[in-house]
Amino acid sequence: MLVSAKEMLTKAKAGHYAVGQFNINNLEWTKSILLTAQELNSPVILGVSEGAGKYMAGYKTVVGMVNGMLEELKITVPVALHLDHGTYEGCLKCIEAGFSSIMFDGSHYPIEENVAKTKELVAICQEKGMSLEAEVGSIGGEEDGVVGMGEVADPKECKAIADLGVTMLAAGIGNIHGKYPANWQGLSFETLDAIQQLTGDMPLVLHGGTGIPADMIKKAISLGVAKINVNTECQLAFADATRKYIEAGKDLEGKGFDPRKLLAPGAEAIKATVKEKMELFGSVGKA
Ligand code: 13P
Repeated sequence: MLVSAKEMLTKAKAGHYAVGQFNINNLEWTKSILLTAQELNSPVILGVSEGAGKYMAGYKTVVGMVNGMLEELKITVPVALHLDHGTYEGCLKCIEAGFSSIMFDGSHYPIEENVAKTKELVAICQEKGMSLEAEVGSIGGEEDGVVGMGEVADPKECKAIADLGVTMLAAGIGNIHGKYPANWQGLSFETLDAIQQLTGDMPLVLHGGTGIPADMIKKAISLGVAKINVNTECQLAFADATRKYIEAGKDLEGKGFDPRKLLAPGAEAIKATVKEKMELFGSVGKA
């Protein structure tokens, strides 16, 4: 059964480790992440972007697929199904579809509107026993070939949003989605420290987990980060393994590639990436 991310993140924050959020795009991806979490006895969060939800034929399809796998693969570790960077409308759809966790990305709204919409979602999530992630300060990333550095969060705004009753808080601290540019300044630990001091026990979320050096990950965890999001790294591993398989040309004598065999190396590559991250984040054995 899917669970809210609240308990796993409260334990992670108290135990000084982080739970990985791995974004899913298809069946193979999902199966690889769930099997690895079970093998390593680690809690896990499956992230679904709005685009990926659409690609997988809608949120209800995703919920059906994940619930089916939990049962058929006998997954007993805690698993949360979480909307990643949701719009207000997307959040409502995922609540209705049976997700166990949502992120409302209100960072592009003026703070007053972010607060008002977050409050509404807090009330719904509390009633349904779901977890809710909010974002303050924007997280940078590449758009049209230009890498935006994002906007570092204001710790006082973080405190204001945390006090609304959200479960976890994503704060921009110089982290960006996708690969980091060569001139990246690194994470602002000063900001993270100030946010943790004001928000206390609130589990903090680090987006843009791909490409952050291990020592920075560990320092971020020591300063209150209890959830780390990874997407691009799984994508790169999947694409690379699939490309190598195709280049090796193992097709079926004129019948083309067997789709199951074609996707198997990518699925294995995702398992290896997830394992590496769970070990780095310290969540192995914490289910
Ligand atoms: P990366 O794609 O950089 O791993 O970031 C993932 C993420 O933060 C999803 O919200």
